[in-house]
Amino acid sequence: MQTVAQEQLEFRLPGPQTAKSLLDWYDREARDLPWRRHGGRRPNAYKVWLSEIMLQQTTVKAVIPYYETFLKRWPTVTKLAEAPLDDVLAAWAGLGYYSRARNLHRCAQVVVAEHGGKFPREEAALRALPGIGPYTAAAIASIAFGAAATPVDGNIERVMARLFAVEEPMPSAKGRIRKLAASLTPPERAGDYAQALMDLGATICTPKRPSCLMCPIQRDCTARAEGIESTLPMRGAKPERPVRVGLAFVALREDGYVLLRRRPESGLLGGMLEVPSTDWRDTLPPIKEALRAAPVSADWWAVPGSVVHVFTHFRLEVQVYRAIVPVESTLTFWADPQRCQWVPRRDLDRVALPSVMRKLIAHGLKEQ
Ligand code: ADE
Repeated sequence: MQTVAQEQLEFRLPGPQTAKSLLDWYDREARDLPWRRHGGRRPNAYKVWLSEIMLQQTTVKAVIPYYETFLKRWPTVTKLAEAPLDDVLAAWAGLGYYSRARNLHRCAQVVVAEHGGKFPREEAALRALPGIGPYTAAAIASIAFGAAATPVDGNIERVMARLFAVEEPMPSAKGRIRKLAASLTPPERAGDYAQALMDLGATICTPKRPSCLMCPIQRDCTARAEGIESTLPMRGAKPERPVRVGLAFVALREDGYVLLRRRPESGLLGGMLEVPSTDWRDTLPPIKEALRAAPVSADWWAVPGSVVHVFTHFRLEVQVYRAIVPVESTLTFWADPQRCQWVPRRDLDRVALPSVMRKLIAHGLKEQ
């Protein structure tokens, strides 16, 4: 005869009881996050959408203050759609991946113009909206509308790779993992179930040293039974991040204004303000030549040290030049004066500047 303790530890294949155990755990232990509602109530789609867009590639902790500010300032999708894009970009500054903010604004306008200000309920219709991919569509459909949809991001991939002991390396295992994940999604409370998986991935089934003893579904975990949980998901060799280099020009006017320029609308940091710079390339041109890209003719001085910023696809190293220039300075035509503006130094905190540009300005204005 088995004792109760032995019985509880016995492995069982992942199945419908997995969702049940996770939901029971979620009812006891769910993180209390401002976009959530507990006790079987569903949050409104605007709040779910706003939080999910912010949470793409950003941590819960970083998102919370932004989410609360946005909601206070633009309490409905209609209000957000009516806001000037620049206000939205400025409020987004610091969250990174600015194309998300442009898409957020565009999406609000499409929801108002084409859906009467109400988010559509179906995954396919959600996916047709700007900035909403398969993960976000499934998250909104399940959390806001209760559909049995299955959002699968990196955290949930990891949980599933372990539950089913998928040893095929990523990214080629993605399709298989997606199907396995969908096979476990319960028909009821799919939104709570999805968020339970998110919480599990964030707090217990972590990439390194998962806390299996605390896990509500440890019995269902094939990798745990085989003792290979810490090795999953397997990864193919990662290509190295290439390095790009450039020069940035911090021009400080004698009256305390700093020269900024709006970047082209498309591409990296599209439409955000920047410190006028050379292009970012594999190698620096000779300094004399690079200095010809300066936006004002002045006595440019190389600030010692350099600024390093790591983007998803490359590492950027910038040498910063600085000059103090007269109020009546004229901009060179290759600086594209139409896109340039002088911003009072004390207002820099209030404009939509990406983190890399804040670093460049801080470095350029540092007292030497
Ligand atoms: N990450 C993405 N969506 C989330 C959510 N709804 N709750 C917690 N973390 C998340």
